[in-house]
Amino acid sequence: MAQGQEFKGQEFKGQLAVITGGARGLGFAAARALADKGVQLVLWDRDRAALQAAADALAPVTAVTTRALDVTDPDDTDRATQEAAGLTGRIDILVTCAGITGPVETTWDYPLADWDRVMRVNLDGVFHSCRSVAPIMLSHGYGRIINVASIGGKEGNARAPAYAASKGAVIAMTKALGKELIGSDVVANSVCPAAIETEILLQMTPEFVANLKSKIPMGRFGRAEEVAGLILYLASPACSFSTGAVFDCSGGRATY
Ligand SMILES: NC(=O)c1ccc[n+]([C@@H]2O[C@H](COP(=O)([O-])OP(=O)(O)OC[C@H]3O[C@@H](n4cnc5c(N)ncnc54)[C@H](O)[C@@H]3O)[C@@H](O)[C@H]2O)c1
Repeated sequence: MAQGQEFKGQEFKGQLAVITGGARGLGFAAARALADKGVQLVLWDRDRAALQAAADALAPVTAVTTRALDVTDPDDTDRATQEAAGLTGRIDILVTCAGITGPVETTWDYPLADWDRVMRVNLDGVFHSCRSVAPIMLSHGYGRIINVASIGGKEGNARAPAYAASKGAVIAMTKALGKELIGSDVVANSVCPAAIETEILLQMTPEFVANLKSKIPMGRFGRAEEVAGLILYLASPACSFSTGAVFDCSGGRATY
């Protein structure tokens, strides 16, 4: 019997999830949704205070371990992965939410240091997490990887070139990874939200955020819980025939 079969009908019983950027926003919403299903959590984030607050909020619901970590550091990501796997002997779910927007600037005025920073967090960070965790999932024959990209990675919002490039690359990397995993019951998919009401919106100018909202046919920002609902499906045993795929959560903005 394939490893994933053991969860059929029991959904998330006995599973452990690692969530990067899990201290707030979409990562925290995904953590809460998984906690409600009884999934044991390991939250990674570079913000220690927010990690503690997240753990305090989730501890009544499920077992939570926090680990302060900067996902741009591949060696520490490796160490944190081994620590997480040591808790139950396996990692069943990886959700990569750690991300930043970078400044609102045209390509020609975009500061080189910001380009580097955005690519390191949004792209290298997802790569580091996947390359550390995927072998653990393969070793026990089951896993669900969800990389949070963005509609900006498909469409390229003006004055956010590094963000668009990093998220487009996450989509492409996830397509490659999803194909590499075929033959196991480990799948990897990406999620593309449009603008969702979280603190990340504060990293951009109000004009830029208003423009993002105006592009959404439903005429409103998304809610973190709405993205978490999609992540919950992609993290479940039921998501067994999709890999390397791109799932939108964009209030009707995405057209492909
Ligand atoms: N909110 C949106 O509108 C939206 C839309 C599309 C995609 N996304 C993507 O979803 C993901 C989550 O966004 P959010 O809205 O929850 O943002 P957020 O700012 O609310 O939360 C992001 C979390 O990631 C952490 N983080 C940032 N850099 C890190 C690093 N180097 N190492 C470890 N942790 C780090 C932050 O401390 C924070 O807790 C991001 O990748 C973002 O690009 C968000």
